[in-house]
Amino acid sequence: MLLNKTPLYRIAIFASGTGSNADKIISYFKSSDSISIALIVSNNREAGVLHIANKNNIPTLILEKEKFFLKDVYLPVFESYKINFIVLAGFLWKIPLNLIKAFPQKIINIHPALLPAYGGKGMYGMHVHEAVIAHKEKQSGITIHYVDELYDHGKIIFQEKCAVDKNETPASLATKIHRLEYAHFAPQIEKLLLFK
Ligand code: GRF
Repeated sequence: MLLNKTPLYRIAIFASGTGSNADKIISYFKSSDSISIALIVSNNREAGVLHIANKNNIPTLILEKEKFFLKDVYLPVFESYKINFIVLAGFLWKIPLNLIKAFPQKIINIHPALLPAYGGKGMYGMHVHEAVIAHKEKQSGITIHYVDELYDHGKIIFQEKCAVDKNETPASLATKIHRLEYAHFAPQIEKLLLFK
């Protein structure tokens, strides 16, 4: 008898920058029979994540702003790659309603703070860590959540905390947060898709 090797989940990762989270997720699922990273999507031609995709022989898609926000042109592209789940890993554009409707409860994001605090428009990258430190927070962390039509707003799936120390700088906090992201993002995706 032939075994059916088609993975249950074909994920598109959306990223705008370096893509170190994407890199970890790709490595984590490399030998999985159930989950495959089938497409890397970016809004930025210069994004480091595209090199990571090439290194791993994963196809890439560069989004054009007008098409992404005004038309449904990318839905058939996702369909052609049989994408059935989307992971945002440092993707800076808001997800348009047509995409949210096409992937109901099938788009998740990671945010480098404990939502609902320090989320929303303009709260990305170092801005988040600078704000956390400016407000003298004693702790920060990561949030994995479903994506809805508002920035950093959908139902929370997972959070993990870390301490913000007395002499913490935005850069040192960013390193702590990245460590948490690397440890938890891929296992949480696996748990959400396969063990729930
Ligand atoms: C991560 O800190 C993530 O929480 C945020 O964007 C950053 C992306 O970093 N949404 P990288 O590109 O994965 O290194």
